[in-house]
Amino acid sequence: MIKEISLKELNPANFIGDKVNEIKNIVGNGMAINALSGGVDSSVVTMLGHKALGENLRTVFIENGLMREGEPAQVSAFFRKLGVSVEIIDARKEFFDALKGITNPEEKREAITQTFYKNVFGRIVRECGAKYLLQGTILTDVDETVAGIKRQHNVFEQLGIDPQAAFGYRIIEPLIQLRKDSVREVGKALGLPQEMFERIPFPGPALSARVIGEATPERIDTVRRATAVVERILKSSGAFQYMAILHEDRVTGMREGKRDFGQQIEIRCWASRDARTASPTKLPFEILELLAREIIKNVPGIVSVTYNIATKPPSTIEAV
Ligand code: XMP
Repeated sequence: MIKEISLKELNPANFIGDKVNEIKNIVGNGMAINALSGGVDSSVVTMLGHKALGENLRTVFIENGLMREGEPAQVSAFFRKLGVSVEIIDARKEFFDALKGITNPEEKREAITQTFYKNVFGRIVRECGAKYLLQGTILTDVDETVAGIKRQHNVFEQLGIDPQAAFGYRIIEPLIQLRKDSVREVGKALGLPQEMFERIPFPGPALSARVIGEATPERIDTVRRATAVVERILKSSGAFQYMAILHEDRVTGMREGKRDFGQQIEIRCWASRDARTASPTKLPFEILELLAREIIKNVPGIVSVTYNIATKPPSTIEAV
């Protein structure tokens, strides 16, 4: 059982001090690798690891081909400004090869997990002799995986998987007792700029969690373009999380007077405190219309745009 530290109980300064010591003690004089995706959790872990290990921490950003528009370059430039150098590793081919032909959500998540941890990190760790991987798993990831709701890409020990035996390295998870609201407080106390610790959550399986059916490079590109529109328009909405989802079903539409058997985008915009439960926000109809217009204008092949109005549960925040 992991003991939760609630937002009420959290003392960010003490928490940071404890975790920095813990990381130092575990890693000693060795090397650790740190998986940065640019999300709130991994950004906070990067700063903690950097404080604890300095040059003995190698921070990598895996370009898996599933990230949002411009993300690899933006994230590495951002951390460079904070004094952390980030190495971008191009693993696009490996991820798309692993996802080929897979339509089942859990199989898709499993393919991502194996490619990340076994193939890509396994190789990096072997090459540089690191024994530890530092990552930003939080308590909600563990809860949902253990409850069998969704296999979060980054949960192992609670499922009885020993990362040392399975992948050849140990995993350090400094944020495992926290939920998102507390992680944000720690990020703030670490001096991360507001735009970073207030970023909306983004899942480890990235845009493949937002493509129903096979995640091919073309379909990922479609959802990536729609995501850019949704994030631009809903940025100031104050919502917990918002996203575009590409559906598998096609629907009849018309374009330039001709039949167009096109694709559908679903928009979700969630109100939530900690991602355990969530409800759709009441977006003004004008905003919904603007979203539809901009998606149809900017994303080739889309003829239908819908807004999800179900709550979590029974929905989940991501579609896959
Ligand atoms: P769900 O879709 O389960 O998501 O309601 C709850 C929160 O977790 C994020 N999420 C993930 N985060 N690895 C992660 O690190 C994952 O595999 C994953 N799947 C979902 C999701 O974006 C939401 O904030």
